[in-house]
Amino acid sequence: MAEIKLTIDGKPCTARPGQTILEAAKASGIYIPALCHYEGLKPSGSCRICTVKVNGRPAAACTQPVAEGLVVETATPELEDMRRALVEMLFVEGNHFCPSCEKSGNCELQALAYRFGMLVPRFPYQWSVREIESVSPRLLMEHNRCIQCRRCVEAIRTPDGRRVFAAQERSGRLRIGVDPELAAGLDEDTARKAMAICPVGAILYKEVGFAVPIGRRKYDRSPIGSDIETK
Ligand code: SF4
Ligand code: FES
Repeated sequence: MAEIKLTIDGKPCTARPGQTILEAAKASGIYIPALCHYEGLKPSGSCRICTVKVNGRPAAACTQPVAEGLVVETATPELEDMRRALVEMLFVEGNHFCPSCEKSGNCELQALAYRFGMLVPRFPYQWSVREIESVSPRLLMEHNRCIQCRRCVEAIRTPDGRRVFAAQERSGRLRIGVDPELAAGLDEDTARKAMAICPVGAILYKEVGFAVPIGRRKYDRSPIGSDIETK
């Protein structure tokens, strides 16, 4: 199939038909911040962190397909401030205490906050009341940290394809629930995958949280996005 030509941040790029702008940018060494998106999963388009300008109009890069001649801007001051505001909203909506979190240093939300230079959120803290649930002998669910990205809903299934995590309720009351029986039946690899696929510290595999000391974790060593930008 013919390649598609587009411009991303002034750079002429090529893409394959069917690719998203996020994928095309990544292939060209341009990092577009993303949070709910996870490679290989159907994008939910829920967080909007990946918003870019396409021919001057905002669009989610993880869901917007490439097209011939598009002009994409990924990092204007306006877009960067919008992303910072979205990250700040997530911080005030849940209860995130990075210094005591098992995922600190491996958390994508924290890594984005560092990338955007977030200090104090511009929004008031909500101090939401949420529970911590032991959902299976292997897994703990820390609802205070869930950002409702739904990666776990898409990715974690039983061998016969049943979802272990599911969205419950709607809008302001939306919550990610777990089927305790299905969760209890997950093998070790899938349970560990659930912790890894969660961008924050909401799904925890018990007793491994601090196995890698802070200072030697993924985003302690290299900022988020640097694996793409340095290509
Ligand atoms: S538990 Fe984690 S992966 Fe699942 S929706 Fe919440 S933040 Fe996303
Ligand atoms: S990463 Fe694109 S909407 Fe969340």
